Amino acid sequence: MNNSSLPLVLVSHTLPDGWLDNLENHCRMVIGPKDANELSTELENFLPEAEGLFTLLTINVNEALLSKTPKLKVVSNMAVGYDNVDLDACTQRGIPVGNTPGVLTDGTADLTMAIMLAAARRIIEANLDARQGRWKTWSPTGWLGKDLRGATLGIIGMGQIGSAVAERATGFGMKIIFSDPNPDLVKAEGLKAKHVPLETLIKDSDFISLHIPLTPETYHLINEDTLKRIKPTSLLINTSRGPIVDSNALIKALEGGWIAGAALDVTDPEPLPQYHRLFELPNCLIVPHIGSATWNTRRQMAERACENLIAGLKGRQLPYCVNPEVYNS
Ligand code: GLV
Repeated sequence: MNNSSLPLVLVSHTLPDGWLDNLENHCRMVIGPKDANELSTELENFLPEAEGLFTLLTINVNEALLSKTPKLKVVSNMAVGYDNVDLDACTQRGIPVGNTPGVLTDGTADLTMAIMLAAARRIIEANLDARQGRWKTWSPTGWLGKDLRGATLGIIGMGQIGSAVAERATGFGMKIIFSDPNPDLVKAEGLKAKHVPLETLIKDSDFISLHIPLTPETYHLINEDTLKRIKPTSLLINTSRGPIVDSNALIKALEGGWIAGAALDVTDPEPLPQYHRLFELPNCLIVPHIGSATWNTRRQMAERACENLIAGLKGRQLPYCVNPEVYNS
């Protein structure tokens, strides 16, 4: 709809047909390209007029960007994580920020199990060997991996996604221990999962899976020191945010046999450059940040992001707001 009385919204990326249907009657939209790691120059030019921003997690909503948006009323991030948004800067300007929790819990938990199993059973290596002529016979010692049943899974971050992983892993016969830097967010009711100090989790787990947000406190939580205390037979799984793991320390740990392997959906930097050392390590499985990548999940994320955006444009409280304190100031 090209009605100039409607507020202007910048949508950072082109999304599939139908995903933005809810927005069409509420705003004028300028839409960026399909795949971009930053806001396009065309969209940059519209920042002074923009009342709404619809962003993906690759867009840095920082002070520099916000200083060009005098009319901005709402930032709607189509992601559950919002470490790409300078929350303090938005709050100071009275701008509510929305995210899309809940709808990507199952997708991300499924992907966590998928890469945990793939790493434990060496699926990528075995698939490549089968395709590339190295499958010569059924060998009693060929492609041996690790069992999940009876293994201890240490979950760091027992919020919605962490507990969905615990539920699935319990079905595989794993013993669950967890630790969480934010006890208020723990969702462990009804689960057979034991809370332990982080120290204990690091040294006792056979698999460690990360499900915490990236904050200054969690940045490089997994570093040289922690990696040295993990069992050498253990696998590290990260489907949360790349910078929670110190990539250089991880390379040393994988090369030096401090840990048995890693399965990463997220990396630092992201995307990981094609010739990055981590890609060369056979005990490191890497997929390109696809935790929420199912049609159903992504579509629901877009719906939630639209709901947040419309509420913000109309001056109503966002249904999924990560800085609700804006409404008290
Ligand atoms: C994906 O990583 C998200 O935060 O939604």
